Amino acid sequence: MKILRNYSLSHLNTLGIDAKAAFYAIVHSVDELMALIQSREVQNGPILILGGGSNILLSKDFPGIVIHNSLKGLEIVDETADWSLVRSGAGEVWHEFVCFAIDKGLGGVENLSLIPGYVGASPIQNIGAYGVELKDVFHELEALDLRDGSLKTFNHSECRFGYRDSIFKHEAKGKYIITSVTFKLNKKPTLNTSYGAIEEELKVMGITSPGIKEISQAVINIRRSKLPDPAEIGNAGSFFKNPEVSVELYERIKKDNPELVAYKTSDQKMKLAAGWLIEQCGWKGKVVNKVGMHRKQALVLVNYGGASGQELLSHARKVQQSVKEKFGVEIEMEVNVI
Ligand code: FAD
Ligand code: EPU
Repeated sequence: MKILRNYSLSHLNTLGIDAKAAFYAIVHSVDELMALIQSREVQNGPILILGGGSNILLSKDFPGIVIHNSLKGLEIVDETADWSLVRSGAGEVWHEFVCFAIDKGLGGVENLSLIPGYVGASPIQNIGAYGVELKDVFHELEALDLRDGSLKTFNHSECRFGYRDSIFKHEAKGKYIITSVTFKLNKKPTLNTSYGAIEEELKVMGITSPGIKEISQAVINIRRSKLPDPAEIGNAGSFFKNPEVSVELYERIKKDNPELVAYKTSDQKMKLAAGWLIEQCGWKGKVVNKVGMHRKQALVLVNYGGASGQELLSHARKVQQSVKEKFGVEIEMEVNVI
């Protein structure tokens, strides 16, 4: 395995930022990974584990080693009459894993179709879309402890999943490389079409009794109509999380803005649509130099070509600031700033 120097990451992050890594290596097996972590470059740090690069903003050149994960393999490791456990190498492309499940008639991940990135990153922010989150199908994961090279298994509760959150964004951050994830998928799937747009799309498709394949196709159609394709326009999906606020703050905003989009999360909390808040601040579709919030989805920060990480970050901070000033709401970045 080669360690390359001064390596351009522009084709390895979906925001298309032209940053360089001092060192770069791609790993195809756990043995290669174990050998790599003994190297001077890893020992000296810093380290960035890279999957599909669809949830990072490279704010500058990376001064350490980028370890690009290419740990492949998809297999059913256990099953009963009701469910199968599917283990996926962390370097499998997420949507290919979803297609594998659908081909085998296994339900649970069809609503998560077409999310970019690799399987290994999916537990980091507990990916979610169209009424389903990774935690709903997660069984366990295996990760290499960078401190001593041992392999550790994390079960569901140890991952401490939350909305776009897990232990890997807190205490475990930077300490582990996820090598595989095992999912519990259903042989008798319960379909989740509660998200309004899915029902509507199925009607447009002329489907009256959908299965997991049709739900997957409906989700793909909706996503293609709403979200920019990173192959055409640099972006990292939702740049911010939808903020959770107190019912009091929600009611104060709602009084002046009856059209406010919000969902109840508990008796005391409401989740607000950050896309709506950003749109009300006038950012939707507005392009400043080469950067802007997308014209169809104000939550998506876009690099129209050639913007630096600093330019993107500075735009994102202005958006955050204006939402804070107008509504008194802090919107937190979902994307990992490196
Ligand atoms: P990367 O961007 O490569 O890495 C993300 C973070 O995880 C980094 O901090 C990295 O160091 C760490 N990491 C990656 N792999 C490992 C590993 N093996 N071990 C330890 N740490 C690791 N997300 C959603 O939840 N729902 C959506 O609907 C959604 N839609 C999107 C739509 C578009 C168009 C885009 C561009 C992105 C979207 N995303 C969505 C965000 C993104 O696809 C997910 O967060 C995805 O899981 C990121 O995977 P990745 O492999 O690209 O991660
Ligand atoms: N809205 C606006 N203006 C906008 C965008 C949205 O007013 O420009 C309002 C609309 O009323 C809409 C509501 O916000 O009904 C919600 O919008 P949407 O359904 O597009 O979902 P979202 O909350 O913006 C979330 C996730 C997406 C996920 C979709 C579908 C977050 C941060 N984002 O977006 O995930 O695909 O729901 O489930 O939770 C990602 O994480 O990268 C991502 C794309």
